Amino acid sequence: MDACFVRKTALALTVIGSAGAAQAADVEVLHWWTSGGEAAALNVLKDDLQGQGIGWNDMPVAGGGGEQAMTTLRARVTAGNPPTAVQMLGFDILDWAAEGALGNLDDVAAAEGWDAVVPEALQAFAKYDGHWISAPVNVHSTNWVWANKAILDELGIDQPADWNGFVTAMQKVQDAGKVALAHGGQAWQEATMFDGVVLSAGGPEFYKSAFIDLDVDALGSDTMVEAFNRMATLRSFADENFSGRDWNLASAMVINGEAAFQIMGDWAKGEFVNAGKKPGEDFICFRVPGSAGTVTFNSDQFAMFNVTDEGARGAQAKMASAIMSPAFQSAFNVVKGSVPARTDVPNDAFDACGKTGMQELAAAADSGTLIGSMAHGHANRAAVKNAIYDVVTAHFNGEYDAETAAEELANAVEAAM
Ligand code: GAL
Repeated sequence: MDACFVRKTALALTVIGSAGAAQAADVEVLHWWTSGGEAAALNVLKDDLQGQGIGWNDMPVAGGGGEQAMTTLRARVTAGNPPTAVQMLGFDILDWAAEGALGNLDDVAAAEGWDAVVPEALQAFAKYDGHWISAPVNVHSTNWVWANKAILDELGIDQPADWNGFVTAMQKVQDAGKVALAHGGQAWQEATMFDGVVLSAGGPEFYKSAFIDLDVDALGSDTMVEAFNRMATLRSFADENFSGRDWNLASAMVINGEAAFQIMGDWAKGEFVNAGKKPGEDFICFRVPGSAGTVTFNSDQFAMFNVTDEGARGAQAKMASAIMSPAFQSAFNVVKGSVPARTDVPNDAFDACGKTGMQELAAAADSGTLIGSMAHGHANRAAVKNAIYDVVTAHFNGEYDAETAAEELANAVEAAM
């Protein structure tokens, strides 16, 4: 174990142990939840903490997927002034823990029995060397499609059963003069679509070989060429103004009936809900055709940084405890579009898409098809993720044909390993 981590862990343990006695202060929270649906969900957390006398010092850094937030975080830590709590994903959490930058939540985790209720797949990112270092607030998943029901009804389109059916459906929408696919041209959004597309082209074992095991043969294979061909097909169904569009504006196109489909993680549902839309009535949700049975997941967690102020440490422990409460996990995730990060939360308050998401998460965990999202930092470290982003986005923007893209992908990942 890293000596620096051990020293800091011991220090943090002492402090959190005495947190009860400490006067709770404010929490400064760095996050990237700035869209309408995200902000509504964040308010659930703010209100919960404020109800416990913990003040909220907001540090939003806009930019879906969190890349800009992570850049800001690095600058803050380098300046010796880390925020108290930071929204973080997957391997980024483990990297900060390895640097010895994170506090230790073992006391609160033990007192509340987190080990028994947080799924193993999440614990893999919430613990470092056996110690709890972050509090998981949700489980999102990326291989979803969001569809405008009125458009589908008007054009007589059923929920597509497979990839070819999806292409036929998009063609029908385009022929009717509407935008078939609402897309935001940003690297992380293309990578998010790629999660579902790679699954649809190659299945879960292929996805694991390529993105988790970084098998060079899988990365450069004919199956990967097929995945890139599917991405080119998707591009042909986007409107010509997709470049640079934020993901929530793409969601709004589906919400407003300008576009039929969006491939996006279930944070998109937060936008529909925030706009007062109901699943089954206004929109439908289904897995990227060809990917059903597999869940590519990402879990937003709040990592607590080592801070010196005792009040701030007390507030960190209280915030972690609030996040993990079953009632909060239900209230928050209903608004966010995600599902709870613990297995014992009732599904009563969730809508149809949320209930499906909860049931599919549990089934995928049992069958070995719950797999970390490449696009959202749960398959590999940031260097590898960014190398994949670059190739996927260059291909999407016409720089490479599918064969060259698969070759470049294998080379780029090998260089980043
Ligand atoms: C993801 C994050 C979600 C959502 C999304 C778009 O990385 O896990 O909670 O915020 O980015 O911003």
